[in-house]
Amino acid sequence: MIPYKHEPFQDFTVKENYDAYKAAIAKVEAELGQDFPLIIGGERVTTDEKITSYNPANKTEVIGRVSKASKDLAEKAMQAADTAFQSWKKVDPAIRADVLFKAAAIIRRRKNEFSALLTKEAGKPWNEADADTAEAIDFLEYYGRQMLKIKDGQTVESRPGEYNRYGYIPLGVAVVISPWNFPFAIMAGTTVAAVVTGNTVLLKPASTTPVIAYKFIEVLEEAGMPAGVVNFIPGSGAEVGDYLVDHPKTRFISFTGSRDVGLRINERASKVNEGQIWIKRVIAEMGGKDTIVVDAEADLDLAATSIVKSAFGFSGQKCSACSRVIAHQDVYDEVVERVVKLTNELTIGDPTDFNNFMATVIDQAAFDKITSYIEIGKEEGKLVAGGTADDSKGYFVNPTVFADVDRNARIMKEEIFGPVVAITKAKDFDEAIEIANDTEYGLTGAVITTNRFHQEKAREDFHVGNLYFNRGCTGAIVGYQPFGGFNMSGTDSKAGGPDYLQLHMQAKTTSEML
Ligand code: NAD
Ligand code: ALA
Repeated sequence: MIPYKHEPFQDFTVKENYDAYKAAIAKVEAELGQDFPLIIGGERVTTDEKITSYNPANKTEVIGRVSKASKDLAEKAMQAADTAFQSWKKVDPAIRADVLFKAAAIIRRRKNEFSALLTKEAGKPWNEADADTAEAIDFLEYYGRQMLKIKDGQTVESRPGEYNRYGYIPLGVAVVISPWNFPFAIMAGTTVAAVVTGNTVLLKPASTTPVIAYKFIEVLEEAGMPAGVVNFIPGSGAEVGDYLVDHPKTRFISFTGSRDVGLRINERASKVNEGQIWIKRVIAEMGGKDTIVVDAEADLDLAATSIVKSAFGFSGQKCSACSRVIAHQDVYDEVVERVVKLTNELTIGDPTDFNNFMATVIDQAAFDKITSYIEIGKEEGKLVAGGTADDSKGYFVNPTVFADVDRNARIMKEEIFGPVVAITKAKDFDEAIEIANDTEYGLTGAVITTNRFHQEKAREDFHVGNLYFNRGCTGAIVGYQPFGGFNMSGTDSKAGGPDYLQLHMQAKTTSEML
């Protein structure tokens, strides 16, 4: 087995790569507007009611129409997953892992095609789309290898005359609920983590990005995934989501999305419904209000580029995005000035054009929410860049910077999930860390400093699941920077880390007298 190494990112300034991506966009554009069915127990099911996926950069362009599951179809999918579990749980974990490796190979061969679909369906600029597809491949390669490592369990002690063993068995039917912002990587990663550990899945992808999810299920089928192991049931969160979360046969829920929906799922899952004989497990990865701290002793060019890239990459629509900056008073003015300068240089436009660093936000609801926060920001701070938006053709929000924001302002505390960053001043490094921790979230953070003692203080006291030094706070790599947050950011499950798969299994001890 080749040791795991993350999938490299492409350099699109190389003509060959540029041309290949352009060709992939043309291929995807030629195939837009198709209908896609549900997949239940391997069967294609077409419904009259559809979820229509639109291009956020051109809001009348239809990416595809996907059938929409009702409660009855969700029930049918639950029965299919429950039946498939009886055989899938007995399949050798090495064979399950092989399905992941084969799926990774299929995606790698058609990489640009998947990324180009992300460019069209989610509005991802080329580099962001390429990174999303690379991360999907990484999850397949990494979780496959992790399963091979733990498939025989762990060593425990035995006394004379006794033979003890400790192994892992699957849990049962998983409900996987995924977000639109990493519509390939997170959807695929959470699905295959459940599958490789021997569970079966009901996959409910986000309603804004269902087509990429359908394409992934096709890959799993091509890779040899048996019918019923992954069931594709897009639908309304409130209807199908609640129904499946409440279902007595649901064994666990793997959710990635907002704080409010995560808390709702956690609460509903804790109730024992009729016929249920277990405590449901909830893996919930939720929102963030992520901070970059700039110390007095710091490389300010590095600080400004790290802030701008982390705040505005994919229009700030990453749970890891930098939405607050806390700068030491000695460097505050210079940090603001450099951030504003870089922000004003960003290129914004259709994501199919490689020259655009930033494109749109995902839909009208996101556009309305972000622009209303910009209005709040105008009351709470000093607008120093951006502040404008245009939804006439697509959902374009310009990168926006507020300075002189009070630490208790709403734009310093609430997740906006768009290209808006708030900057505040700290009198010293201790206060900077205190302000950084003064949020209910705890996902990512970064500290820009050349002071080793300040770095060590942050390592201990900055309460986030992913802390970075002298770089931005986005871009965790599977197997290198396991990802997940504290407090209201979720259950800190650390996707892409060595402890992740165990969350999808239960450990069993056997003890034999010799
Ligand atoms: P969301 O919570 O609106 O939706 C996530 C998923 O939940 C979607 O599939 C949605 O249809 C579904 N859903 C909605 N209501 C439901 C219900 N009642 N029951 C079951 N499912 C329901 O989030 P989103 O807008 O898709 O994604 C953005 C959010 O996700 C942000 O808050 C972001 O920070 C967070 N996020 C977190 C991580 C992480 O790893 N911590 C990663 C990506 C995104
Ligand atoms: N894993 C993604 C990042 O780190 C969310 O940006």
